[in-house]
Amino acid sequence: MDIDPSSLEGRAIHELMVGCITPRPIALVSTVGADGVHNAAPFSFFTVLSLHPAVVGFAVGRKRGGAKKDTLVNIESAREFVINCVSEAIAPAMNQTAGEYPSDVDEFTQAGLTPLASDLVRPPRVAESPIQMECRLMQVMEFGVSPRIHNFVVGEVLRVHVDDGMIVGGVIKPDRLRSVGRLGEDFYCRTRDLFEMKRPVV
Ligand SMILES: Cc1cc2nc3c(=O)[nH]c(=O)nc-3n(C[C@H](O)[C@H](O)[C@H](O)COP(=O)(O)O)c2cc1C
Repeated sequence: MDIDPSSLEGRAIHELMVGCITPRPIALVSTVGADGVHNAAPFSFFTVLSLHPAVVGFAVGRKRGGAKKDTLVNIESAREFVINCVSEAIAPAMNQTAGEYPSDVDEFTQAGLTPLASDLVRPPRVAESPIQMECRLMQVMEFGVSPRIHNFVVGEVLRVHVDDGMIVGGVIKPDRLRSVGRLGEDFYCRTRDLFEMKRPVV
């Protein structure tokens, strides 16, 4: 099958792209609203962009009616956020935060997650997450035309908190982290079936 992405409508282009690009890591992004309400939501359009400085980014679509999602609203006002990595243990709670709750609802409470004060930014970390990255907003890019807009949020990582139990010899061990990946449809994958390949020395 050969596909022209520009010919596809909303759901179809979504299914195509999330089916093609797998597995995707999941950023459980915590933010705080102007009213002080804690927000958390998962984003799998997520990647690392740079090391010096350490920069990460994730893409936020719009709510069904075209309004900005709470995460984007909060980041544009507070200019800070935390990216919490998603392990198997917190996958159900992560999924719970994906509900379209009103902005005055504390999504930590909804999902049974514990807010933990950050060192350098106002949004709290997710205590149950094995890795938490405190970030400062660098820029927000915009793609598409209303209501089908995606904004790519780019942030500098100011501090990384790693659960000591994930580290052996100074290295984060994937078999301890047990992160989950997002696939197409409603599928996820575990990271239990690992294999190793050394790069060729040329
Ligand atoms: C595993 C997972 C990954 C998701 N990835 C994205 C994403 O990359 N971009 C996006 O806009 N929404 C994504 N969503 C949907 C948002 O999490 C959802 O719209 C959420 O309600 C947004 O919350 P907020 O309004 O509090 O920001 C994802 C949902 C799940 C369960």
